[in-house]
Amino acid sequence: MTRIRRAIPADAAALHALKWALDEETHFMMLEPGERSPDIGPEQREIERDGVFVAEEDGELVGYVQAERGSFRRVHHLATIVIGVRAHASGKGIGSALLTAAHEWAAAQGITRLQLDVDAENTRAIALYERFGYRIEGTKRQSMLVNGAFVDDHIMARLSV
Ligand SMILES: CC(C)(COP(=O)(O)OP(=O)(O)OC[C@H]1O[C@@H](n2cnc3c(N)ncnc32)[C@H](O)[C@@H]1OP(=O)(O)O)[C@@H](O)C(=O)NCCC(=O)NCCS
Repeated sequence: MTRIRRAIPADAAALHALKWALDEETHFMMLEPGERSPDIGPEQREIERDGVFVAEEDGELVGYVQAERGSFRRVHHLATIVIGVRAHASGKGIGSALLTAAHEWAAAQGITRLQLDVDAENTRAIALYERFGYRIEGTKRQSMLVNGAFVDDHIMARLSV
């Protein structure tokens, strides 16, 4: 049984452990294995600042989505999304449920543009985002160096007005 809920500051250590595990498990997230700071202080502050939702299964966090709102007035209507689901929990609707929670949060905040960067080879994530109304706006060529090879990133966004 999976529960999707808003993260609370007390989740900081478990959320940090989830991100650490995702860093090791997939090269589709930003950080390399072991690159993440062990300090959970920033995690607590991000939970308070951002729209962060977690997927919990039998007391374990197996996925999260984080929506960071633009801090200046001219970008206050947008938020940048990061999402990750553990491999053993993927393919059963958790990513979709997390995105839905983030979209509901964004709508309640008056946020009208949701944007993200995705590895151009991450076809599964791209298909998920397209199902949720995100469109590719452009491609950043050679924007990441992954395991010694350059990869491109798509910028995707979803507008709600
Ligand atoms: C991309 C990612 C977030 C998707 O999460 P997910 O939980 O697997 O997503 P969903 O299960 O909602 O949807 C994905 C697939 O499951 C299928 N699905 C959705 N609900 C389902 C259900 N109830 N039962 C079975 N399958 C289901 C979807 O049709 C979709 O099909 P696909 O296998 O053709 O892709 C996750 O795979 C992930 O974190 N990957 C590694 C990190 C990453 O790529 N992050 C994104 C960086 S931009």
